[in-house]
Amino acid sequence: MKRILLSAVAFACVASAAEPCTGDCVCISVEDAKALGIAVPEAAAAAGGSDGAALYKKCVACHGADAKTVYLSKVPAIKEMSPEDFVQSLKTYKDGSNNKYGMGAIMKSQVGAMSDEDFTALGEYVKGL
Ligand code: HEC
Repeated sequence: MKRILLSAVAFACVASAAEPCTGDCVCISVEDAKALGIAVPEAAAAAGGSDGAALYKKCVACHGADAKTVYLSKVPAIKEMSPEDFVQSLKTYKDGSNNKYGMGAIMKSQVGAMSDEDFTALGEYVKGL
């Protein structure tokens, strides 16, 4: 019984990684969850523990909370992009090779310190908005 309860608690925490851990909640990493044989939701597993919702807070000012903002009447809603294109464009902003709308430097400063896992997590989050 104790075992089942632990699984349920851990599952809830991994599933809602965006929520801060409070009260009786026990937070564990995706790797630990897998090692314990606890089911991990696809998005969390794909993201390797990166928190798309938390990362996206940085993007809201320009791309909108719903990712549908057309920035400066030039950059189309990023919600319309496929996750593959989304991740690819962030990678190329990071390495400085993407300057599609002439403002690549703005995006480089946004994603320069992020990892591929962060990009995947952001892609999943935006897709789910
Ligand atoms: C200060 C405003 C600003 C912030 C904050 C910002 N962006 Fe951008 N974003 C831009 C601009 C400007 C471009 C267009 C750059 C270019 O290619 O010239 C862009 C382009 C993009 C594109 C590609 C759009 C396309 O049509 O190819 C994606 C994807 C994107 N941003 C995601 C993000 C994510 C994810 C974050 C948060 C981590 C973020 N942006 C934060 C301004 C911003």
